[in-house]
Amino acid sequence: MRKPFVAGNWKMNTDSHSSVALAEGVVSSSEKLAGHKVDVAVIPPFVYLQPVSKALSSSRVALGSQDIYFEQKGAFTGEVSAAMLKDVGCTYALCGHSERRHVIGETDELINKKVAAAIAGGLLPILCVGELIEQRKADQTAEVVMRQLKAGLEGLSDEKLPAVTIAYEPVWAIGTGLTATPEQAQEVHALIRALLADMYSTKLAEETCIQYGGSVKPGNAAELMAQSDVDGFLVGGASLKVDDFVAIIQAA
Ligand code: PGA
Repeated sequence: MRKPFVAGNWKMNTDSHSSVALAEGVVSSSEKLAGHKVDVAVIPPFVYLQPVSKALSSSRVALGSQDIYFEQKGAFTGEVSAAMLKDVGCTYALCGHSERRHVIGETDELINKKVAAAIAGGLLPILCVGELIEQRKADQTAEVVMRQLKAGLEGLSDEKLPAVTIAYEPVWAIGTGLTATPEQAQEVHALIRALLADMYSTKLAEETCIQYGGSVKPGNAAELMAQSDVDGFLVGGASLKVDDFVAIIQAA
């Protein structure tokens, strides 16, 4: 049985006060309702990781980073290592979010190094994959997602796969208010699981958590979650409001 996992990616939002208030709000409302049935994480901007970490301490809400660098230390101005993220209390690290792929220009090769570095540093990577609208229209969704998944997991052994969560986020659904239909999401999630079974084993594929992301809201979370291969959510905009985020956790 896969345990549902809901993570809130705050992106470049909040400030020193509102990040802590949001974290405290998530802790107090989510603990009451979800008990031990859903894994929950919040993913604030780097500069607020430490105060948010403090606000989460002694709660079951985990902390994640929006990115990670693959080198351990040294002259890499502006970058943040796995050890630094562990040091401030992170459990998870997003790798290859679509905004990093398409706005910042990260390649599959770089993302693969980040996944490996996260695991080597004791973090759990959330590998994001997903097609652009042009690619969906040109019927290239399967090809793109399979390429990103294979490249992102390149060289990763069977022993390490359980550390990884996959997030399927169709780029055209992120922050746009457009959501993949439950059928569209299920189709790609099933494809991802089949590819994992091919690359690893049916058992490992069955155990891997595959989140959906892209305009998830309280109003669409339950029908997406009802799909057999949707195991939770990576939530952007709706994770900035405690009530919305908690309603999504409840749906999961
Ligand atoms: P959204 O973002 O929920 O605002 O569409 C999702 C994401 O980018 O992780």
